[in-house]
Amino acid sequence: MKILLVCLGNICRSPLAEGILKQKALERNVNWQIESAGTNGLHNGEAPHHLSQKVARKHGIDISTQLSRQFLASDFFAFDRIYAMANDVMIDMKRIAGQQFDSKKAFLFLDELYPGAAMDVKDPWYGDEDGYDEVFEQLNLASDALIKNYVAKQTPSNQHA
Ligand code: 4NP
Repeated sequence: MKILLVCLGNICRSPLAEGILKQKALERNVNWQIESAGTNGLHNGEAPHHLSQKVARKHGIDISTQLSRQFLASDFFAFDRIYAMANDVMIDMKRIAGQQFDSKKAFLFLDELYPGAAMDVKDPWYGDEDGYDEVFEQLNLASDALIKNYVAKQTPSNQHA
């Protein structure tokens, strides 16, 4: 399964989500391809924000080699599930994808943890370091939930699809 995690800049939330989910998938032997992207393209080619890198490192995850890239309409062909970090990101995804938007593939990331609650991962970009710790905790719990929800639906024979 190919999963894309999307935020606005692809330098704070979604790179952290990518690092966390990749580590959990590896630990639990779940064979997913995981990438991330941002809707605004303002930070194309940049490494994750230093505070996202720092909080990841505190938890033994290295996200320093990731590079920001803009979300594309064609991502709806390339990925099986696309997760928006927040409602405003989902609106941007719809605008960018246009006719390619596929509601069967688009989800809010925190809905894995709080189904139907339509909650946002708060953007830490404007705040201080504590905000990055809070985001890490939210993403960590939601990533656990995503893997649990997915594995619960699978039979052992197709768990690695
Ligand atoms: P992110 O945070 O969407 O979690 O990567 C942001 C980073 C940069 C900007 C907005 C949000 N910006 O406008 O540059």
